Amino acid sequence: MVKVEFPNLFQVVRPELNALETYLHDDLQEAREGVREVVSHLLAGGGKRVRPALVFLAARFGKDAQSPQIMKVAAATEMIHMATLIHDDILDEALLRRGVATVHTVWNRRVAILAGDYLFARALGLLAETRQPEATLIMSSVVRQMCDGEIQQNVAAMSGDLPTEADYLDRIGKKTALFLAESCRLGALMAGAEEWKQRVLYTFGWSMGLGFQIVDDLLDFTATSVAFGKVVGVDLRAGVLTLPLIHALLNSEEPEKTRLAKLAQSRGGGQSEWSELQSILGRSGSFAYAQNVAQRLVTEAVDSLGVLPANEAKEALLSMASYVVEREA
Ligand code: IPE
Ligand code: IPE
Ligand code: MG
Ligand code: MG
Repeated sequence: MVKVEFPNLFQVVRPELNALETYLHDDLQEAREGVREVVSHLLAGGGKRVRPALVFLAARFGKDAQSPQIMKVAAATEMIHMATLIHDDILDEALLRRGVATVHTVWNRRVAILAGDYLFARALGLLAETRQPEATLIMSSVVRQMCDGEIQQNVAAMSGDLPTEADYLDRIGKKTALFLAESCRLGALMAGAEEWKQRVLYTFGWSMGLGFQIVDDLLDFTATSVAFGKVVGVDLRAGVLTLPLIHALLNSEEPEKTRLAKLAQSRGGGQSEWSELQSILGRSGSFAYAQNVAQRLVTEAVDSLGVLPANEAKEALLSMASYVVEREA
């Protein structure tokens, strides 16, 4: 039943991830039929289950890695993630997600908005069931910051202003890195790990999360849709400028600078403009630049784990960090 796309990486927590699939599936039985179908569609599409895997792996650094609260938190992270994906795809007008058609295209926007809301609400319920106020507090701040990041992105897209690299990093921190960081912290916290370990794992998730989003943004220019499971070029078409293009617009020389600005303004244009854009970004070293920034962040993430005791969960986190910068889809 599980279709996790991180090959062998999460072997250590495979039993927990399998149990998570069952848990999500069973929990969904309580939803109305319409919602059930929508969520099953997205679950069956695949997905890497990165956030719950981080919860489970981080929990291994505590005394009670098998506490039932951990499953609730892990399920809540995947539900919140799915809700944001469903809503994000409406905002980005994306057609493909996890290799299957997006919810708002299979059904419609109304259904997609409601299914996302349902998942958010259910996730909050699960967090409250843990009877640990920190769980709800932490995840509510994750969602608030994520909204803030999306709003920032939307405002920037509409203004047409060129963001700085710092604006970009700030935005992806809110959109993505915080969620990964807090998934790590919560897993450790729920398992009763010492506070310093929670902090270390948070820092790891933060830096890795930034790298993860930079690579995702890079792949939006360089991957193929079949491998990526999402239609590429979506960011620019939605008016969202990401690191490779920001770097090129700020650093390239004329006449390419003007040409790039024009291509960005037309949001990538047709197929030939898109190919032209890809080749300028490749030539100007902007793809390599973004890859290097991601690599630097992931190295920071790896270094931050140095103080943790060696165990198989740590090995898995290290492999995951390498995967983030090596993945091609
Ligand atoms: C997609 O997240 C959104 C980003 C933060 C880039 P994932 O890449 O974790 O999506 P799934 O769950 O594997 O589909
Ligand atoms: C990350 O941004 C999504 C959220 C935080 C919801 P993207 O828009 O880049 O994610 P994808 O590429 O659609 O998965
Ligand atoms: Mg998107
Ligand atoms: Mg993306």
